[in-house]
Amino acid sequence: MSDSQLILYSITSIIVLLIIFFLIKRRQPKLNLPPGKMGWPFLGETLGYLKPYPATTIGEFMQEHIERYGNIYKSNLFGEPTIVSADAGLNRFILQNEGKLFECSYPRSIGGILGKWSMLVLVGDMHRDMRVISLNFLSHARLRTHLFREVEKHTLLVLNSWKENSSFSAQDEAKRFTFNLMAKHIMSMDPGKLETEQLKKEYVTFMKGVISAPLDFPGTPYRRALKSRSTILKFIEGKMVERVQKMKEGNESFGEEDLLNWVLKHTNLTTEQILDLMLSLLFAGHETSSVAIALAIYFLPGCPRAIQELKEEHIEIARAKKKSGEIELTWDDYKKMEFTQCVINETLRLGNVVRFLHRKAIKDVHFQGYDIPCGWKVLPVIAAVHLDPSLFDEPHHFDPWRWQTNGSRGPSSSCASVTPNNNIFMAFGGGPRLCSGSELAKLEMAVFIHHLILNFQWEISDADQAFAHPYLEFPKGLPIRVQRHSLL
Ligand code: HEM
Repeated sequence: MSDSQLILYSITSIIVLLIIFFLIKRRQPKLNLPPGKMGWPFLGETLGYLKPYPATTIGEFMQEHIERYGNIYKSNLFGEPTIVSADAGLNRFILQNEGKLFECSYPRSIGGILGKWSMLVLVGDMHRDMRVISLNFLSHARLRTHLFREVEKHTLLVLNSWKENSSFSAQDEAKRFTFNLMAKHIMSMDPGKLETEQLKKEYVTFMKGVISAPLDFPGTPYRRALKSRSTILKFIEGKMVERVQKMKEGNESFGEEDLLNWVLKHTNLTTEQILDLMLSLLFAGHETSSVAIALAIYFLPGCPRAIQELKEEHIEIARAKKKSGEIELTWDDYKKMEFTQCVINETLRLGNVVRFLHRKAIKDVHFQGYDIPCGWKVLPVIAAVHLDPSLFDEPHHFDPWRWQTNGSRGPSSSCASVTPNNNIFMAFGGGPRLCSGSELAKLEMAVFIHHLILNFQWEISDADQAFAHPYLEFPKGLPIRVQRHSLL
């Protein structure tokens, strides 16, 4: 073929390809995507989206985008075309259609750290099987019988160590409580022991990697977290080998109540699956509820009326116990903590421990006139709904009374499970992936608040506030100064 023939052939081919391309495009129905912009190539708008902001707000990025485009907008985040939803109806629709129209889809970096068998990243049948295990382990029955006692024991262990007029990080103390509780419950590890302290330290490094950029180079937080992951896994494996040996020797009573024992006895999971399950439950079970407790400690001094009403509620419970000669809290006492439940809901609504979830569309979806193409990332932003002024009066105001069932905002109203509207409060997610630990988390908060209110008054000793990175953290650790008191 001569040069001129080759050029002619190439030009004709390009023209034919262009015609085919335009014909295909014309045939495709025009998508009605939500408004928004895709930002820079690859990076999109990720940096703006992830810029830290005060936890009781939705952040500048979200605010500007909602004002400009509305509650549903398109963007390019985490390297993918994305639909961001601050719309209560769409968020509910997304979570309830898990596995049908949408699927959990966390960035690969999170899977790399939590492990491919972690419940937070699994989908389909394997997720269902793991979920059943976690629900068994955190069942209502176990909560009432076994976990309740442990929650109170670990609360007192932390609170009794606080010295009169001392100042310390409330965030660290809350973490000490929730970590010790989970480590005991998962692997029968005792608080204060060297191995427990070492494991807690590893988790600090691990956590920093979960939320860092996935840059696997020497010295990066991500690389350090991967190293921590393998140290933690080796540790859990050691515990597992020890336990299997004990079981072989017929020492059945050893660690009878913990998750490790349960999993070894009642499931056919592989070693790799057990390790990822334990690692991620220990992670999910202590990072979130410790932040929630720290947030309650932060919000309450700003609302003296709530402290007063909590005092009245808990003094009444404690006096009745004293009269009947009971010492430990019971499930019936817990059920009487109605105003405390309002404080818990309000803390979770305003603080938003988990701000948004990662999903992707697995089919083409139409919602309120918009198209969400199959394969696009979808981010239901639960924090934006909780702070939406059209859904909550004065959303930035800490107001536990908004959760009272009769809405009278008077001290005698009762605070049953969840009001203003179950459909818009999604602190624990929703649908088939609703947090398996939600009841435990609320119990931990209530019991901690009970003993805190009865035994201490506290002030924030160095101004601090929670920032969303998007994980929540008090930059100074929430320093508080405590004074003991006895209200009985
Ligand atoms: C205040 C504390 C907590 C908050 C705000 C919280 C929030 C959440 C949210 C929003 C999800 C849904 C994630 C998604 O759909 O992608 C979730 C899932 C989960 N949480 Fe929690 N959580 C808390 C405490 C706990 C505790 C104490 C445990 C106990 C181990 C726990 C275990 C889990 C597990 C296993 C899942 C995965 C459920 C599944 O995929 O089926 N969480 N949590």
